[in-house]
Formats: sequence, structure tokens, C-alpha cells
Amino acid sequence: MKILVTGGLGFIGSHTVVELQNKGYQVVIIDNLSNASLEVLKGIVAITGKSPIFEKLDLKNKSAVQAFFKAHQDIQGVIHFAASKAVGESVDNPLMYYENNINTLVYVLQELIKLKVSNFIFSSSCTVYGQADTMPIAETAPIKPAESPYGNTKQIGEEIIKDTCKVNAQLNSIALRYFNPIGAHQSAKIGELPIGVPQNLIPYITQTAIGKREQLSVFGDDYPTSDGTCVRDYIHVVDLAKAHVIALQRLLESKNATNFEVFNLGTGKGSTVLEVIKAFEKVSNTKLNYKIVDRRPGDVISAYADTTKANTVLGWKAQSTLEQAMLSAWKWQKVIN
Ligand code: UD1
Repeated sequence: MKILVTGGLGFIGSHTVVELQNKGYQVVIIDNLSNASLEVLKGIVAITGKSPIFEKLDLKNKSAVQAFFKAHQDIQGVIHFAASKAVGESVDNPLMYYENNINTLVYVLQELIKLKVSNFIFSSSCTVYGQADTMPIAETAPIKPAESPYGNTKQIGEEIIKDTCKVNAQLNSIALRYFNPIGAHQSAKIGELPIGVPQNLIPYITQTAIGKREQLSVFGDDYPTSDGTCVRDYIHVVDLAKAHVIALQRLLESKNATNFEVFNLGTGKGSTVLEVIKAFEKVSNTKLNYKIVDRRPGDVISAYADTTKANTVLGWKAQSTLEQAMLSAWKWQKVIN
């Protein structure tokens, strides 16, 4: 079965390609290489022993998207990762985010609804919940006004898919709302490749520990949490990748209850920033240089998932602990240093 993975050379995309190939799917990757490297392909081949088909293509190019689907009419499912994901950048350049994340989604859906049957998995985010009123966060929690254009593209993206599914019964779709994906493949052949100064916590920690950054700033220790630092649900990227394969199988086997479904993907466990640092120090046997600084604007206090729906309906559960995820991130950092 031929599966298209857009953004398949990115962090979550590449790990998902590995899991798909391990399950015997034939994978076609589209990536415009704007935030990924061709080296990732080599990592995927080294892990799986199989070469996915790769096409360098920019999904903003509508006619190229049309030509692609014409040439690959046997595609049975699409996992759509391709998108920009830096919150700050989206505030500075909202139109770039709406073009990159919304236009491309529309072009892909326009081709999918021409097919007899189409199966579509969308990368969404827990950011759609904003600061939820109760923890853990279930899929039924209200969607709060987005804090950033990036967050807004995830909300609008879900709406676009929902509206399209309403009038196209042959389109089956699942939106997966990720909590905080971290870690790397256990082989240390693929992982996260942040360009420039990392915005996310884990690459900042590993780059500090390896000496690339001087010191980690912990953004605020006066939040109403157990130790005053923010709480997040950190999920190993390989667990996340496996969930995509399970969600896709659900659609391919027509087991979905409706043609637009939403699932949270997290561990269900919240960890504070200081707990993450402690876990890192333990598995790496190093002391991390960090200091407490002011809060980062836009940060929610706490976000962790109620994973009951994914556990019971998808039959998926995150397996890795925070320490295992931190160890894999550290192994990867030492390889790419
Ligand atoms: C952010 C985005 C989220 C996006 C995700 C991608 C926001 C509000 N949310 O999540 O929409 O899907 O990235 O992975 O930006 N921290 C530090 N020091 C650092 C970096 C982070 O203390 O140098 C803290 C943050 O304050 C936060 C936690 O670490 O409490 C996690 O931060 P981060 O990795 O940036 O993820 P989110 O902000 O949760």
C-alpha cells in the first residue's frame, strides 16, 4: 500500500516513515527541504533497509500538487506533516504561516476529494486548547482563541478538514493533537534537527549540555505548579510515530466511527521543567547549567493529556518514560554535535 507522507523528512515525519516502512507500507515522501535535510533520507534507509520514494516538492505550488496526485493515483493514504511550526516566527510573519499551513492543506484536500476513497491524517496540536480549565485535557475540552498565528493554523486546519468531510463522505480523516514530542530514534540515526537557536526545551537542554549553548534559561518558577515551573506532557517521538500508523490503519480498515475524528496524543503525565532537567541530568550523568529567568510570554501554565480516547478507541498507549526519551535525545545530540 502506497502512503504519502508530506513533510516526511521532518522530525515527526521521518520517525513516522520508519514505522510505516517497518510495517510494510510503501512510502512516498514530499518535502520542500525548507526545514529538513536530505541526510535524513539516509538515516531512514539505514534504519529500515528500504528507500522511500522522495519528491522535492513545495505544496504551495498548486499545479505541482495536482501533477503529483495525477502521477500517483494509487496513493491509499496521506499523513500530512508539512507545515511551519515556530510560534514566534508566526507572530512576526503571519501571512507566511497562513500560506504555508493553510493553502497547502487546501491544495492537498482538493486533490483527495477527487479520489474514490481517501484517508487523511492531520498533524494538529494541543495548542488548540490554550490554557485548558481542567487537567488532564480531554478531546471534549473547549477550543480557546489561539495565542499565535501558528496555533490558529492548527485550529483553522481542523475546521477546514471537518467542513470538507461533511460534504465528502469518501474522505476519512483523523486529526492528531500532539502534546510535546521529544527524543529521537533509538538507533540515533534520525532525530530533531533544529536550525539556529532552539526554541523548544529539550534541544536547548542537550545543546547546553554538549557545550553549544552556554546556559539554559528556565522561563519562570512562580507558576502555580508543584515546583513553580510549567507543566507539559512530553511524549517520545517514536511513540507518536506509532500512533500515526495505528490511526492510518483505522482508516484503511474503515474502523473509524465518523469521517472526522480527533485524538490527543500524549503520555497522560505532566512534568515540570525542573523535573525534565532532573531526568536529563540523571540519564546523561551531567550537571546542567541553568538559571531561572522571567516567564516567557504566551506560555500556558500546564498542559497534559487525557489519553483515554486514544488508549481505548485507537488501542494505542505511549510506552517510553521521560527518562528513556531524554536518553534518546542525548544520544542523538552526541551524534550530531
Ligand atoms: C511549543 C508551542 C506549541 C508547539 C510546540 C512544538 C507555545 C506556546 N507552544 O510548545 O504550540 O506545538 O512548541 O514543539 O509556544 N522552556 C524553558 N526554556 C527554554 C525553552 C522552553 O524553560 O529555553 C519551557 C517553556 O516555558 C515550557 C516548556 O519548557 O514551559 C516547554 O517549552 P517548549 O519546548 O517551547 O514547548 P511548548 O511551549 O509547550
